[in-house]
Amino acid sequence: MNPTLLSCTLFLVFIITIGTEAASGDVVYDVTGEKVLDNVPYYIGPVVWANGGGIKLNDTKNNTKVCPFYVVQDPAEVNVGGQFSFTLIAKQEYLLTSRILGIDSGYPESSCDQSTFWQIPDPEAKAPSNLITTGGSFDSSETCFQVLDYPKPTSSKVHSYMLQHCPSLCGSGPDHTCFNVSIYEEKGVRYLVSSGTPFEFVFQKVIK
Ligand SMILES: *[C@@H]1O[C@H](CO)[C@@H](O)[C@H](O)[C@H]1NC(C)=O
Ligand SMILES: *[C@@H]1O[C@H](CO)[C@@H](O)[C@H](O)[C@H]1NC(C)=O
Ligand SMILES: *[C@@H]1O[C@H](CO)[C@@H](O)[C@H](O)[C@H]1NC(C)=O
Repeated sequence: MNPTLLSCTLFLVFIITIGTEAASGDVVYDVTGEKVLDNVPYYIGPVVWANGGGIKLNDTKNNTKVCPFYVVQDPAEVNVGGQFSFTLIAKQEYLLTSRILGIDSGYPESSCDQSTFWQIPDPEAKAPSNLITTGGSFDSSETCFQVLDYPKPTSSKVHSYMLQHCPSLCGSGPDHTCFNVSIYEEKGVRYLVSSGTPFEFVFQKVIK
């Protein structure tokens, strides 16, 4: 190998290594500093439980029963909310940031026979047409999310995260666009939607 070719090859190896590291993601931690398990139920909620409680499902909208359900933040800080499993498309033991995944919720029990995976059918629409609901199918563009480290965490003592909806990473959708999942409030109900300031949340293990 001549010297030019060798340094070229080394440079390429360098680039590829950097690229892999950036895409491989970091392990996600819960509030106690334990690694979050892939495909296992957790509570998710704000860092400071003083402005609302955990995330849960709501089977009512405008005083009418709905199916599929809406994903909302409970207004009462004492409520931990429902249990949600974050499931990487490429299964791992632990949940990782920057990896595509589906979010499953088995709660609440009811006669609604729709799938329990979170979805956003039209993330480009304005609220209230971009609310997260259940009813999606795993590994499709509608149910494609990723967890990211929260850019400016409220506390340096806990790991906090944001969620993005990334349809194009699982199938079709606006090119290379990810939508920050935030809160949209209407008549006191805090829906999760696909635009705005990202909602900062933590994982809390379900104690059985
Ligand atoms: C669910 O939605 C109804 C409105 O249809 C509202 O009265 C209720 O407070 C909501 N529950 C939560 C936890 O947001
Ligand atoms: C509730 O119903 C009213 C009247 O039909 C409608 O204008 C409003 O957009 C509805 N709210 C939601 C959250 O769908
Ligand atoms: C998503 O959130 C990040 C972090 O706050 C922000 O830098 C970025 O501009 C947001 N993207 C959109 C499309 O709002």
